[in-house]
Amino acid sequence: MRSPVTRAGRLVPVLAAGLLLGACAGAGDPGPALTVDDDARLRTAAPDGFAIGSSVAGGGHNVAAGWPDPFTDDEDYRAFLTEEVSSLTPENQLKWEFLRPSQDEYDFAGSDAVVEFAQENGQVVRGHTLLWHSQNPAWLEEGDFSADELRGMLRDHVMTVVGRYAGQIEQWDVANEVIDDDGNLRLEENIFIRELGPEIIGEAFHWAHEADPDAALFINDYNVEWIGPKSDAYYELVQELLADGVPIDGFGIQGHLSTQYPFPGDMTDNLRRFADLDLQLAITEADVRIVLPADGVATEEQLDEQAEYYRGMLDACLAVDACASFTLWSPLDAYSWVPYFFEGEGAAGVLDDDVARKPAYVELLSALDAARR
Ligand code: XIL
Repeated sequence: MRSPVTRAGRLVPVLAAGLLLGACAGAGDPGPALTVDDDARLRTAAPDGFAIGSSVAGGGHNVAAGWPDPFTDDEDYRAFLTEEVSSLTPENQLKWEFLRPSQDEYDFAGSDAVVEFAQENGQVVRGHTLLWHSQNPAWLEEGDFSADELRGMLRDHVMTVVGRYAGQIEQWDVANEVIDDDGNLRLEENIFIRELGPEIIGEAFHWAHEADPDAALFINDYNVEWIGPKSDAYYELVQELLADGVPIDGFGIQGHLSTQYPFPGDMTDNLRRFADLDLQLAITEADVRIVLPADGVATEEQLDEQAEYYRGMLDACLAVDACASFTLWSPLDAYSWVPYFFEGEGAAGVLDDDVARKPAYVELLSALDAARR
């Protein structure tokens, strides 16, 4: 970890004690400089019982990018994970594509390593994910399976994977992205829903609950930070699932934002209505993308604006008791998925390419510190 950074990007004296000075200023207002102690860490700044998390890089775009596996290869990265966060989510290592090289095989090497690392470091783990339309192996998507076979395979997968980590994975994203942006179930894209009907969602939760009765079971998606057709559809769906006796415990809000769109000012209200259904809430994959200028380097103003978005998301979660977990997705810009999926956008994390703290990191620390006091 390098030197502390102020909101204005200047270096400031390190404080002898206490995390922070100054306050959060409004967007566009440089305001008083926030300063952080170099020794401050997100996980120690967090209030008791509040998990601050990170994805654990591996698989997916990391393979396409061609860099050595960050989790096994990069000691600084492992130090970041150890010191800064209290919750870990394997970025790809629990997805079908990674876990299931063939119909008869499970490859737990990647996920075992993350779970073991978490135990060594006193961290909880979020499991991601069991039923999704994306990152499924070709043998599954292109196989010619009957409905019975497919249902049997999903059941075996959920029971085997959740069962293996029973007592070790605290929260599971059982179902991921089952509704599209218009608020409709992905009846075509999701192979399980297409072939087995929407009831398979509830069944997957039942199997996961059977395999680990203590795990908190979540349904998870993006573009549900605000109140709109998609989050409304989830609001209906989770009530139906609950009414049907499905063991669903939580709603996961991914939190993939971009500063090219307005900040969702009604996020707290949205979280509250789900909390009122007695659900747990988690921000599961927070990052804030920036449309990069021609030279590819985000400006100070952009980094300050990004910091406000991060702050807004974390504050929304902290404002609602049921929201007790906030996970950063690729907090290191160097390993982020964003440049690989969003053309022209990047710098979405809270630590820059030199692993130095960005204004966003300072705002997160400030929000946690304020909530703890
Ligand atoms: C992303 C990973 O970060 C990439 O490595 C991978 O190539 C694609 O998936 N919503 C999710 C996550 O639920 O699993 C996605 O993760 C990002 C969007």
